[in-house]
Amino acid sequence: MRSGARERVRIGIMASGRGSNFEALVRAARQGQIDAEIAVVITDREGAPVLERAEKLGVPAVFVNPRGHTSKGRYEQAVVGTLEEHGVHLVCLAGYMRIVGKDFVGAYEGRMMNIHPSLLPAFPGLDAQAQALEYGVKLSGCTVHFVDEGVDTGPIILQETVPVLDMDTVADLSQRILTVEHRLYAEAVRLFAQGRLRISGRRVIIDKD
Ligand code: GRF
Repeated sequence: MRSGARERVRIGIMASGRGSNFEALVRAARQGQIDAEIAVVITDREGAPVLERAEKLGVPAVFVNPRGHTSKGRYEQAVVGTLEEHGVHLVCLAGYMRIVGKDFVGAYEGRMMNIHPSLLPAFPGLDAQAQALEYGVKLSGCTVHFVDEGVDTGPIILQETVPVLDMDTVADLSQRILTVEHRLYAEAVRLFAQGRLRISGRRVIIDKD
């Protein structure tokens, strides 16, 4: 245990779709790989598949309807309210398909992460795997980073490469990357929960165990 014993980190996950990274984090926490608890998953999409996963895993899930609010700011206030109700300390974006606004980022500065399926700063934004194939790179991978106000621009926590094979389809490459994503996201959260991540300018310093 590190000095200044920490409480078990409560995580809130934001997801718009399938939820495989959400599930990977839940399993990593339950298997004791990370000293954290998934307190809630919030989705902006009614009927998103992640909701069914949450139900199976017994994780509280909340749909916050963006259209039910008069502005993006109000919608994000409702999201922050829900995160606070669940005592969330760390927010993990996992396939959350919205750009996070200034106030939301500010409320969780240094406590909000995202996973992206490319080696940033290459191929930010949508369809990263298709962008990589189109460009013709021989290596791609995934990145876990802290969230700032840009699109996939925050300080990088961890990255891992995968090869791009000659005959890869978008589905092939996405699957190869996804397998790594699940492990890498859990590792980043583990380091956070151990209090070992320090942001220094654009760099994230990982303190030794
Ligand atoms: C992942 O590829 C992640 O890197 C990207 O969106 C996808 C989400 O997949 N941000 P899932 O919903 O976690 O299965």
